[in-house]
Amino acid sequence: MDQKKRIAITGGAGFLGSHLCDRLIQEGNDVICIDNLFTGRKDNIRHLMDNPYFEFIRHDITEPLYVEVDQIYNLACPASPIHYQYNPIKTAKTSVIGALNCLGLAKRCNAKILQASTSEVYGDPEIHPQPESYRGCVNPIGVRSCYDEGKRMAETLFFDYYRQHKVDIKVIRIFNTYGPRMSINDGRVVSNFIVQALRGEDITIYGDGTQTRSFCYVDDLIDGMIRMMDSRDGFTGPVNLGNPEEFTMLQLAECIIGHTNSKSKIVYQSLPKDDPRQRKPDIEIAQRELHWKPSVKLEEGLVNTISYFAEKMNNVSFDKEEIRKL
Ligand SMILES: NC(=O)c1ccc[n+]([C@@H]2O[C@H](COP(=O)([O-])OP(=O)(O)OC[C@H]3O[C@@H](n4cnc5c(N)ncnc54)[C@H](O)[C@@H]3O)[C@@H](O)[C@H]2O)c1
Repeated sequence: MDQKKRIAITGGAGFLGSHLCDRLIQEGNDVICIDNLFTGRKDNIRHLMDNPYFEFIRHDITEPLYVEVDQIYNLACPASPIHYQYNPIKTAKTSVIGALNCLGLAKRCNAKILQASTSEVYGDPEIHPQPESYRGCVNPIGVRSCYDEGKRMAETLFFDYYRQHKVDIKVIRIFNTYGPRMSINDGRVVSNFIVQALRGEDITIYGDGTQTRSFCYVDDLIDGMIRMMDSRDGFTGPVNLGNPEEFTMLQLAECIIGHTNSKSKIVYQSLPKDDPRQRKPDIEIAQRELHWKPSVKLEEGLVNTISYFAEKMNNVSFDKEEIRKL
């Protein structure tokens, strides 16, 4: 029988982190959730608070932390542009100093450590889909750089700790993921469309709606993340995790309108200059090494996400004016 492991999850009160807490607790582990609640919410983990195998520590990972653990999942970092651009210097510190603190902890405890990196390390890619060997096309001085370059530097630190101190590292690059517990107001396309549809407002599509994106449902992503942590010794990654199935913005909007029974109309606005035509992961390494590929269909994932948003928006207030402020 597998022994119960002590696992630290930084960013554990966030969207992905809280689902990871759920899964690792279900699998019989002892979980320490570390979060400063910048974008995360106690609501996301409230159901775990009375569990004797769950512990929440309000802590900022730019400060060192002393706990004894077998594994660390480092997810702490605001992930949506609205949130990470709110205080870009803090975002860079969270990525870089946070990674250093987590790696120091892994070294001291002899713990395995997984870094939640991102497809944004590819920047504005010149090749599609992006394999892990692609080195990216990133602007070092733009408004997104605090996140993109912060995550790139974190990857560098992970590989230096691996080479210099033999720390057991695992690096995943996450592509667009969606599902229940996403922030309602994070400005990303799935949450935007769902909120607009539920409010009966126009759904804004930039460009003609034929540009494509791929979306991974949170359960699939968490499954890939745990498989990576449990992957064979010496397999460090980086490995892409995401859903390679592509949908146009128009298909996404129509699917959401259909499932919300909304009277929303689709309106078109001109495409922002740096909007990529396509974003799609190459998941060949994940398939080969982790025997992983996403299985949840977009429609099924959207239905779950819509019902979460509908409940949240009603819970906040039945007053439409309040919902508008979300
Ligand atoms: N969701 C996606 O599509 C996606 C895509 C690529 C990468 N990622 C990565 O996955 C991780 C989780 O993303 P998410 O979507 O759950 O975002 P999220 O904003 O919901 O979660 C991030 C969590 O980190 C916490 N946090 C932020 N700064 C912190 C600090 N200094 N100290 C302690 N905690 C801090 C926040 O409070 C929050 O709970 C992030 O590292 C993100 O870069 C996510």
